[in-house]
Amino acid sequence: MTDLSTIEATLPAIASAPDLAALEAQRIALLGKQGSVSLLLKTLGGMSPEERQTTGARINRLRSDVADALATRKAALDRAALDARLASETLDMSLPIGGAQAGSVHPVSQVMDEFAEIFADLGFAVATGPEIEDDWHNFTALNIPDAHPARAMHDTFYFDRVDGEGRKMLLRTHTSPVQIRTMAASPPPIRIIAPGRTYRSDSDATHTPMFHQVEGLVIDKGITLGHLKWTLETFVKAYFERDDIVLRQRPSYFPFTEPSVEIDVGYTLVKGKRVIGGAEPDGWLEILGSGMVHPRVIAACGLDPDMWQGFAFGCGIDRLAMLKYGMDDLRAFFDGDLRWLRHYGFAALDVPTLSGGLGA
Ligand code: PHE
Repeated sequence: MTDLSTIEATLPAIASAPDLAALEAQRIALLGKQGSVSLLLKTLGGMSPEERQTTGARINRLRSDVADALATRKAALDRAALDARLASETLDMSLPIGGAQAGSVHPVSQVMDEFAEIFADLGFAVATGPEIEDDWHNFTALNIPDAHPARAMHDTFYFDRVDGEGRKMLLRTHTSPVQIRTMAASPPPIRIIAPGRTYRSDSDATHTPMFHQVEGLVIDKGITLGHLKWTLETFVKAYFERDDIVLRQRPSYFPFTEPSVEIDVGYTLVKGKRVIGGAEPDGWLEILGSGMVHPRVIAACGLDPDMWQGFAFGCGIDRLAMLKYGMDDLRAFFDGDLRWLRHYGFAALDVPTLSGGLGA
């Protein structure tokens, strides 16, 4: 059996073990079943009480010194191995992505960008609002008081709590609350569009519980229905990228606009398929709701409706994307299927511009 002092003399060797394999070999030689320290520990049983107090104590100290030295060296070698791995696996995050792996822009994002491009050209800014709303902004201020039937028309997702002012919290059912937030936050004149997510408890081939809308709002002095008509005509022609587009205005009802106008766009049948545009339409597709902002809505935002008028419109982005780019199932928009995204997506660097072509 190796004697105590010889083993004590090997302790410094542990601290200079060159790698984890060498360290493991040392551990087995010392603390393994047949290791020299383990064998020494077995002699404790045959010792006299006096011997146990002196030599026995020394053996125990040796065992814990060896274990400590092994653990210290192992931690150092592990750290060095990690450092080496980190150094050899560095990635340059600023490198451009390779063509094969490049992602694509979702049609909804593309259409939102096209909207922003067209309306920025007309002097509109882009506004946003929260998706988690309260029922005052989503309904009451928009002239939809409690118990108004229009509240039931929106299949609203409610939270089971109220905010600090006792208002019921919900997922906004349309982008119209951004009208309220914009009017309350900044004095007119106002020209904004507000694209974003909206939610209703509804699901089939043309409805998903989460969908996208873009709101438009103009507030100024002397605004009329004529301004609304021209603005929407200019927008629709720019969006579908053709001039021979006919719009039809239909009287409608929204609590927050008076009068309210629904806008249909004419399509022609080309080989049995509906194509937006054509001077003499074969049929009509509804694309948005609009109207003159109700005086009560203007007053709810703290503005004088005798001084300020305006128009608003709200439009389903997903539907407009389907009409322009020829998708037929809305649910596919949100499946996250890479094949669909590769087919219908847009190149990441191909930003829509009026001069370069919007949906090229
Ligand atoms: N918020 C309405 C909807 O979701 C659309 C709309 C917006 C109508 C603005 C008129 C004015 O159906």
